[in-house]
Amino acid sequence: MGPPLRLAICVALLACVCAQPPVWPRFLDVPGVVCNDGRALASALADPSTTTALLPRDCILRGSDFSGFALPLLLRRNFTVMGSASRPVTLDLGFVSRKVRLGGGVVLTFSRVALLKYRAGSLAQAPGLDLLAPGEADEPMALLRLHECVLSYRLCFPVELMR
Ligand SMILES: *[C@@H]1O[C@H](CO)[C@@H](O)[C@H](O)[C@H]1NC(C)=O
Repeated sequence: MGPPLRLAICVALLACVCAQPPVWPRFLDVPGVVCNDGRALASALADPSTTTALLPRDCILRGSDFSGFALPLLLRRNFTVMGSASRPVTLDLGFVSRKVRLGGGVVLTFSRVALLKYRAGSLAQAPGLDLLAPGEADEPMALLRLHECVLSYRLCFPVELMR
């Protein structure tokens, strides 16, 4: 692809982005535990009385946020992680691996967040989140639900491949 064509595509993309400001649904007050950082999110996941974690700002999760807990955390209840800002918040899962296991029939929902670094390998080849540990084969199926979320794909190919 020659430089003029590439420029034309960039201009066209920019025009589309400018013409359609993203519509983001207004956050309605939802009860939950406000988590200002990754440690608070890990604690909310570990606390059996918490079912909703609210993220008012961008959040980065680290493996060390789970230190001191018996791992993987076994979720036996439905749990929602929800961005509570008036804009999409990013949740960077830092490729943290196998810290949470979903019990049979449990629904884990991510809502109003843009997920980053959630899968070290190819999401297309192996859908899922690195954060989740495998369940038992004989358990009822668990569900991962993404609601009003953005998934960022790592698709930056080397320049040579674009020529
Ligand atoms: C989780 O939510 C689903 C769908 O709303 C519901 O059918 C199920 O009973 C819930 N599970 C638990 C463990 O609360």
